[in-house]
Amino acid sequence: MKEDFAAWMALIQRRVETALDHHLPPASIAPTRLHEAMRYAVLGGGKRMRPLLAHAAGEAVGADPRAVDAVACAVEFIHAYSLVHDDLPCMDDDVLRRGRPTCHVQYDEATALLAGDALQTLAFQVLAELPAELVPSCERRLTMLALLAQAAGSRGMAGGQAIDLAAVGLALTVEELEFMHIHKTGALIRAAVLLGAQCGAADEATLAALAHFANRAGLLFQVVDDILDAEGSTTTLGKTAGKDAAQEKPTYVSMLGLARAKELAASLREEAHAALAALAADTTRLAQLTDYIAERQF
Ligand code: IPE
Ligand code: IPE
Ligand code: MG
Ligand code: MG
Ligand code: MG
Repeated sequence: MKEDFAAWMALIQRRVETALDHHLPPASIAPTRLHEAMRYAVLGGGKRMRPLLAHAAGEAVGADPRAVDAVACAVEFIHAYSLVHDDLPCMDDDVLRRGRPTCHVQYDEATALLAGDALQTLAFQVLAELPAELVPSCERRLTMLALLAQAAGSRGMAGGQAIDLAAVGLALTVEELEFMHIHKTGALIRAAVLLGAQCGAADEATLAALAHFANRAGLLFQVVDDILDAEGSTTTLGKTAGKDAAQEKPTYVSMLGLARAKELAASLREEAHAALAALAADTTRLAQLTDYIAERQF
């Protein structure tokens, strides 16, 4: 079963790499430096967690994998943009990402800012240009566009990032911390799952159950990120370890301590599995990804 999952992950990661490369402007066309920076930010590795979740959700509802490739790219472009901006000196001021210099270090701040901007709009362009034969209706396409816009915007990822920055040095309540994490990280994870499902024939009950699953998995993802920041090494993580404590970020580790943060991760993992159990569809891949999110070392 483990080998089967590893093979599935490798397969999806390969097809997503190809699709990302296809949608990105070539570095050879003007403005070359901006296009190079966009490609650097996206194609420089990464687990492709959100594309994997989109494909797993798509498989559960019988979606066409070619449609899922496109929505997976759209979410990954937003994710890559969020990382480029997250690493800027005005935000987390990080120099290392995916084992390489961050985008603004490799290029310059203005180029990194613009690469993030352009990746964000590219995400919506990919959805808008998804071939008509791969989307059931215009209405469905609009639903997808709205879903991604909400997840990326002030009531999603960007809003969560604003809360994160405003919270530096403060002691948040557990509720406030959960609100921040659900927005800055959970929103895009939820969008990945729901966009994958929108590529197939999911009914309202299935979408609601998948949304509940994604809420738990999204929070789990950031709780584990907080734990890894405290426990992992810079080499393994490919990003600077110990930054949260150094920058006085409120995290589950700083709020609850490592042991209780791990207990919380374990219970979120269980809740995510329980949400999947409520679905009639085959959720094997989503269940395996949940375990992967919980057990990951980087
Ligand atoms: C890192 O995301 C930022 C968070 C939202 C916690 P990932 O851990 O998915 O980063 P990559 O894409 O694998 O580099
Ligand atoms: C970032 O959270 C979430 C985003 C929206 C990018 P972090 O700031 O904890 O992510 P890392 O640890 O730098 O990857
Ligand atoms: Mg941050
Ligand atoms: Mg950061
Ligand atoms: Mg982090």
